Amino acid sequence: MKIGVPKETAPGELRVALTPKEAGRLAASGLEVLVEAGAGHDSFPDAAYREAKAQIAKGPKEPFGAEVVLKVRKPSEPEVALLRSGGALIGFLQPLTSHELVEKLAARGVLSFSLDAIPRITRAQSMDALSSQATIAGYKAVLIAAGSLGKIFPMLMTAAGTLKPARVFVLGAGVAGLQAIATARRLGGQVEAFDVRAAAREEVHSLGARFVELPLETQEGAGGYAREQSEEYLKKQRELLADHCAQSDVVITTALIPGRPAPVLITKEMVARMQSGSVIVDIAAEAGGNCELTEPGKVVNVQGVAIHGVLNPAAMVPIHASELYAKNITNLLALLVKDGTLQPDFEDDVVKGCCITRDGKVVHEPTLKSMGSGAVAGGRPGGRAAPGRADGGSPPAA
Ligand code: NAI
Repeated sequence: MKIGVPKETAPGELRVALTPKEAGRLAASGLEVLVEAGAGHDSFPDAAYREAKAQIAKGPKEPFGAEVVLKVRKPSEPEVALLRSGGALIGFLQPLTSHELVEKLAARGVLSFSLDAIPRITRAQSMDALSSQATIAGYKAVLIAAGSLGKIFPMLMTAAGTLKPARVFVLGAGVAGLQAIATARRLGGQVEAFDVRAAAREEVHSLGARFVELPLETQEGAGGYAREQSEEYLKKQRELLADHCAQSDVVITTALIPGRPAPVLITKEMVARMQSGSVIVDIAAEAGGNCELTEPGKVVNVQGVAIHGVLNPAAMVPIHASELYAKNITNLLALLVKDGTLQPDFEDDVVKGCCITRDGKVVHEPTLKSMGSGAVAGGRPGGRAAPGRADGGSPPAA
């Protein structure tokens, strides 16, 4: 059976779905691996794939003709047209917000699996690409902040005087936020954090940061995620957060609600109260952003406050992000392939949870629900829904 690995075509996407190491493991197991030339960019040269016994494809179309196509980002329309009818596709398909794509995949007879729909259960942790990529994103967010801030993070006592540590405030302490906290602490920053989920308090403390206590009810939703908050709740939250933002040198925002636009936690009035020279790094930018002034994909300066609307931060660390992603995708592939052919057990919770289209139909319940209700299209005007997280509220790990 042939496994095709195209070069990602989304702007700025430097990750690849399969690294030479994982390609080698698949080849050793008897699968044929066909990689587009240059798919690994500078991170993984073609020669490394050849050494791993993968073949370099004759042209960009060839990998799409394989029985199984591995991608990072969802395919473009022309790419869908290249997929083999009856073949399989695995990648971040964002089915809750990509209705046209899933309809096209179904119409083309593609068996598709989305990594952002993997149930977040213990058995599937090795396939959880949302977590692996969010970890990288949280780390990178802090480095972007450190590079932008006109201060160093650690406290420094020198003969020329004492420098106070940078004050870092992390909003949203999920996978990305916790990694941001850990990274900012390692750099020597003085870190505080807030999240609407009760479980986050202990996790923040365990990293040596201060959890900001606000007189607000917790907002737990399905699957260990936050539920969507009312506008009244968010208004109160913003009022309570304003002082903390004003006192911070760096605010890193990571707050997301599955399938919804990101909640606005920092208004323009709150930015106006921040000190000139401070920095906001908004990695919720893909879903519209947590700061009202965020412009996705841009850095804007508002009265001396630099606001980074960071898109796809994991792709800025392509070697490690691809290594983790390739491991996640091959772990899923191992579940789908038996005796060298694709034989998914559609009764398996993990397979069922992430299978989006099959036999010409959309079969993924949360996707069908979102298509029926049009729920994901609403929300904040002009705001985009949170990418990924299509696991439909599966219970978190025991
Ligand atoms: P996410 O990326 O959807 O959201 C990021 C964070 O934003 C979450 O912690 C959320 O509570 C927070 N948030 C939402 N609205 C907020 C607001 N108004 N103010 C402050 N924070 C807000 O979530 P992520 O990071 O993918 O996962 C969140 C949780 O999911 C985990 O902590 C865990 O409980 C569960 N999970 C379970 C896994 C498993 O394998 N069992 C793996 C990963 C996550």
